[in-house]
Amino acid sequence: MTNKELIEKAKEMTKRSYVPYSHFHVGAALLCSDGSVYTGCNIENSAFGVTICAERVAIFKAVSEGKTDFEKIAIMGGRDGVIEDFCPPCGSCRQVMTEFGDLKKFKILLANAEDEIKEYSLEEILPMSFGKERL
Ligand code: THU
Repeated sequence: MTNKELIEKAKEMTKRSYVPYSHFHVGAALLCSDGSVYTGCNIENSAFGVTICAERVAIFKAVSEGKTDFEKIAIMGGRDGVIEDFCPPCGSCRQVMTEFGDLKKFKILLANAEDEIKEYSLEEILPMSFGKERL
């Protein structure tokens, strides 16, 4: 699975977003070390606080299927489903990523409308994190 293919899967998932409130579509595609891919979209709720992000849907789908060894996650998003800029993950999703992804090895892939790709390690986007090694 190439970065481009993973990004394409994330983009495709923005079509599944359930976003009657924000109209901001987000799709995610998570590549596991065994080569399997789990996808997610954001799912909103009239009680706004229980809305769930695309990244966490993808991660929780994988974990619920017994996968906890992750390589990278591609994230794409935009208002009304139109991709313009990069769509970085929210703080809560970054924290969930630390539970399963290695800080240095786990990669976050973002792309914009110009097909520019940015790749970050989890450590880069969540410095000085609180992880299970502290407990
Ligand atoms: N959202 C995500 O799906 N992932 C993020 O990392 C940022 C925000 C969603 C939640 C909500 O449905 C919409 O984007 C606007 O915040």
